[in-house]
Amino acid sequence: MPPLFDNHGRKINYLRLAVTDRCNLRCFYCMPEHGIEYLPKDHLLTYEEIVRLVSLLAGMGIEKVRITGGEPFVRKDIMELFRALSRIEGIKQINLTTNGTIAGKWLPELKELGISSVNLSLDTLDPKRFHQITRRDDFENVMATFHQLIKLGIPTKINSVLMQGKNEEDLEGLVNLTRDYPVSVRFIEEMPFNGEGAKYADLHWNHIRILEAIKAIYPDLQKVPDPPFSTSSNYFIPGHQGNVGIIAAYSRTFCGTCNRIRLTAQGTIKTCLYDDGVFNIRDLMRNGATDEQIKQAFLDALNNRARNGFEAEARRLGLPASESMATIGG
Ligand code: 5AD
Ligand code: SF4
Repeated sequence: MPPLFDNHGRKINYLRLAVTDRCNLRCFYCMPEHGIEYLPKDHLLTYEEIVRLVSLLAGMGIEKVRITGGEPFVRKDIMELFRALSRIEGIKQINLTTNGTIAGKWLPELKELGISSVNLSLDTLDPKRFHQITRRDDFENVMATFHQLIKLGIPTKINSVLMQGKNEEDLEGLVNLTRDYPVSVRFIEEMPFNGEGAKYADLHWNHIRILEAIKAIYPDLQKVPDPPFSTSSNYFIPGHQGNVGIIAAYSRTFCGTCNRIRLTAQGTIKTCLYDDGVFNIRDLMRNGATDEQIKQAFLDALNNRARNGFEAEARRLGLPASESMATIGG
């Protein structure tokens, strides 16, 4: 495939695909307690539409797809989509981001389909704090999913948002997962995407503080080279099986090598996490667009891409960055 580039010369080979905005948890940093107003079903891209889009994108240079949500397994028959995506020529990697509450029973089949890795969202190892953060009681299910992932040998990353007054006590326990399991634990800076539009105060746990806190526990922490296009800065603790990563999601230090585009569940193309959507491809498709017209819409979006997350945020026409992460797909 010819490589695909944006207007800043960045190679684009990665699609993040949100398959639903629904979720069975209510993580406070993502959604208000009462939830968000979910999209009517006919606003979602159908599986047929998704497969058409991914096939076209695979022909343009997209090699890697991540299924996100909301919680992907809340969407009916989601395995049908995984099966169909795994047959698309040119897609070399399929990944999943999940909250792990209900994904467990599908892991053996995902492994069989050749899933490349699973990112499991887990901010705490304490059931009470899990409830405080997610407003639900699913801690045991998530841990069961974690252990099953390890047992099946599926490459696993834990995503933990580190938050003042919420899960600081968990930092050490989460880091220690890398000692006991071959897992990558990544601490993410909290972002203002909580679905409430509340004014976002200054970030306490930024990437620098997170690194200092880990170093205070493990002074022999060592930097490891980051894989190309990595959003995390990665470290190794001698004797541990896994790695620790820090994702400066709010400080946005990694935009210079950003290789990804996003499609929301309703078919909005986003060329940055922080933009408010540049184009709705669903409407174009439902109006009978040809493959060439659809490809051109992607190319146009990539030719007008913001240089980084700050420029994307400044270009927003609607509300400031405050929508629920469940509508964006992380
Ligand atoms: N800030 C940082 N990370 C977030 N996530 C969801 N909302 C936020 C936010 N406001 C993370 C979740 C999950 C991933 C998809 O996005 O923890 O791991
Ligand atoms: Fe659900 Fe993930 Fe949002 Fe939590 S962060 S409410 S698990 S979509």
